[in-house]
Amino acid sequence: MLNIVLFGPPGSGKGTQSEKVIEKYGLVHISTGDILREEVAAQTDLGKQAKEIMDKGELVSDKIVIGMIRKKLEENQGGSGFIFDGFPRTVNQARELRKALTDYDERVGVMISLEVPREELVKRLLMRGKESGRSDDNMETINKRIDVYNRQTIPVTYYYDKMHKHAAVEGTGSVDMIFERIVKVISMVKQ
Ligand code: AP5
Repeated sequence: MLNIVLFGPPGSGKGTQSEKVIEKYGLVHISTGDILREEVAAQTDLGKQAKEIMDKGELVSDKIVIGMIRKKLEENQGGSGFIFDGFPRTVNQARELRKALTDYDERVGVMISLEVPREELVKRLLMRGKESGRSDDNMETINKRIDVYNRQTIPVTYYYDKMHKHAAVEGTGSVDMIFERIVKVISMVKQ
């Protein structure tokens, strides 16, 4: 199986590139942001709690997201692998992912981190805010999300660095160019 963590700051293109990776390699997509937005849309208790946190640009508790991941892993066994998009976002989540995959005799093959300068992230997210109206795509929340990423999420790169699994990829340029860079990295880990 091929298990990939697609990592990067808000607006770096994780969702966009995940779609292309799935199309090429047939992986199961697990996006914690998408799962949380589904809960918000369905107005579940979890969704109501999550909306408040997401609108502030903060992180939902590790316990909640780890529970979501374990459920998705259980429901989607037997495929060619998983792409984790927007997860793990804390070192604790990374450790818990390792434990959850070990339960299935699996592991993360590579963590691909998209590198995009802050001004480009802000530009992309403000544009999406105008077009699609995602409630956390406004200047104040975007800045908060990037700050939270720098403070709480960047340490996840050191966690995968130590295991020699962290591959940085330039996340600027056309979507296709970035995808080519990602494919190059995957070809080095795919057996
Ligand atoms: P999440 O949904 O994960 O959002 P995010 O990390 O802020 O990422 P985005 O979806 O905004 O960006 P992306 O990197 O996927 O880029 P995209 O491809 O969409 O999380 C939302 C919230 O949920 C969090 O703030 C948190 O509260 C909570 N949450 C989620 N996961 C959690 C976890 N594990 N733990 C705790 N809390 C969690 O692209 C962005 C835009 O740029 C698009 O409009 C796209 O068309 C455009 N674009 C893409 N590529 C290019 C390119 N090459 N050139 C120009 N434009 C481009």
